[in-house]
Amino acid sequence: MKAKIIIRSETGDDITTISEVTAAAFKTLPISNHTEQFIIAALRVTKALTISLVAELDGRVVGHIAFSPVTISDGCPNWYGLGPVAVLPEYQRQGIGTALMQDGLSRLKGLNAQGCCLVGHPEYYRRFGFRNIPGLLCEGVPQEVFFGMSFDGHTPQGVVEFHEGFKASGPPEREYSGSRLSILACGADSLAHAGIPTKIDAKHAIAQNKVMVIDGEVVITGSFNFTKAAKESNAENLPVIRDKGLAARYAENWKEHEKHAEVYVGKGQEPER
Ligand SMILES: CC(C)(COP(=O)(O)OP(=O)(O)OC[C@H]1O[C@@H](n2cnc3c(N)ncnc32)[C@H](O)[C@@H]1OP(=O)(O)O)[C@@H](O)C(=O)NCCC(=O)NCCS
Repeated sequence: MKAKIIIRSETGDDITTISEVTAAAFKTLPISNHTEQFIIAALRVTKALTISLVAELDGRVVGHIAFSPVTISDGCPNWYGLGPVAVLPEYQRQGIGTALMQDGLSRLKGLNAQGCCLVGHPEYYRRFGFRNIPGLLCEGVPQEVFFGMSFDGHTPQGVVEFHEGFKASGPPEREYSGSRLSILACGADSLAHAGIPTKIDAKHAIAQNKVMVIDGEVVITGSFNFTKAAKESNAENLPVIRDKGLAARYAENWKEHEKHAEVYVGKGQEPER
């Protein structure tokens, strides 16, 4: 029996997989700068990831599509950029890309979008209704690979600018800016300002591995964030495990991440020379 493709919105648990799927799909594409996974992360951090859908097959995320707002020099509002879109190489040409495109475009119309544009393979996107639109341009992009589709019959004329996130060339956390990082940095600031050596592991799209190892024998992990919401209104779990062997393994894993983490001195403080 053919497995059913499920298209759904991304959740926090999909973030790393989305990065991996995207990097794998673009890995051998000669026209790619191999920054597509960073673009998605930058759009997410700046809250510009209007639609982010994953394709799930047998419980595994095998594809992803992103939509973000664009601006057009003639002032035409509510147009969006499609992309990146990616399907794991071993799952390509089985209709997963088509399912992501169709679902994504239908959700975009549901948000009262007026149109959508993209940069991509001419043969692929025409089948979804995209066309070269004379007078609608994107600087630095050959017109034959720039496509648009109006949803409301009005065709804008001008220069399209994709979101800044498309300039990303590395993980956004590295810049220590943006909304998600500022939340992160609040806690890190408190620690750093209290004189506790603090590092930020900016190598990963998101660090979900919240763990405390105390006195080499107690491991505290789980979802609990030690916030007021966690205490008073959320459903949380907080395993407290007393096991020296397990504590040692967690500490080892922490040290692996420490190797690629960067010293954080806290906002308003200069690093010691
Ligand atoms: C482009 C991509 C997302 C399409 O996903 P997919 O699951 O392979 O697509 P589908 O199976 O739905 O393909 C639908 C049709 O498009 C064709 N097609 C797929 N990729 C194509 C491509 N790069 N160029 C032209 N046609 C393509 C398929 O042959 C299929 O044709 P058919 O229906 O006649 O058999 C996927 O191939 C991918 O991840 N490619 C690498 C990353 C990439 O190029 N992203 C887009 C950047 S512009």
